[in-house]
Amino acid sequence: MSVASRGQRVTVPELRDRKGGEPIVVLTAYTAPQAKILDPHVDVLLVGDSLGMVVYGLESTLGVTLETMIAHGAAVRRGSEHACVIVDMPFASYQESPAQAYRNAARTMADTGCAGVKLEGGVEMAPTIEFLVKRSIPVMGHVGLMPQSVHAYGGFRVQGRGEEDGRAIVEDARAVADAGAFSMVVEGVIEPVAGEITDLVPVPTIGIGASPRCDGQVLVTEDLAGLFSDFTPRFVRRYADLGSALGDAAAAYAQDVRTRRFPGSEHCFGVPKRARLA
Ligand code: KIV
Repeated sequence: MSVASRGQRVTVPELRDRKGGEPIVVLTAYTAPQAKILDPHVDVLLVGDSLGMVVYGLESTLGVTLETMIAHGAAVRRGSEHACVIVDMPFASYQESPAQAYRNAARTMADTGCAGVKLEGGVEMAPTIEFLVKRSIPVMGHVGLMPQSVHAYGGFRVQGRGEEDGRAIVEDARAVADAGAFSMVVEGVIEPVAGEITDLVPVPTIGIGASPRCDGQVLVTEDLAGLFSDFTPRFVRRYADLGSALGDAAAAYAQDVRTRRFPGSEHCFGVPKRARLA
């Protein structure tokens, strides 16, 4: 019996045990209605700090606050009943020290009801991941292209192209797994590096722009649905064009309002029944 049909949420240990098995399906979600639509189809709803760009119109994820993540995390938890909900730790909410990370991750879990947190970083974040995991906070790691480091990279760039860079990302992944992360996002790395990491670490790798050699895949829902058009990374496959559909709906509504075809009598209160049928 599948986890969905059992009517229970996917758990962190179940995800960890999926290493090398059926690919893990992850989508981002930021609101309760969005979570409700996606929930039956995915294993994980990731409340990503990408919401800073695709919902709030920021240029990067750096301006996202913990309060924002908690508000959206709680909404996604309320809107879902099957998927495991993981919430991103935003920039500057965990990098300072393991104690700071614990304080903010614990608050995120308590206030949202999520099953774990995700944070970016490799070798340098391993002690923090270990600190959290030892205190019962499940951590999803994130290696390769780490959007919170966009200014250090000088732009969003595929990582691991050079021999030395590739080696460093593999070492990051090893350190994150050794520290106890239950899975890790591998973003924007060349296929051989993604494959080497997936073969090396004992926990599932969730790829985004990292080839099918990962144990699962994640996409930003707005990208997949055509709701974000500022830029579309090459690794995105667009499964729908809801942006155009929404634009068409808005145009039809505007036309109806301007020509007084909306609202109709069926939308009005206090109109006699006969008049309504007319
Ligand atoms: O913030 C986010 O949505 C993410 C995913 C793209 C992995 O980190």
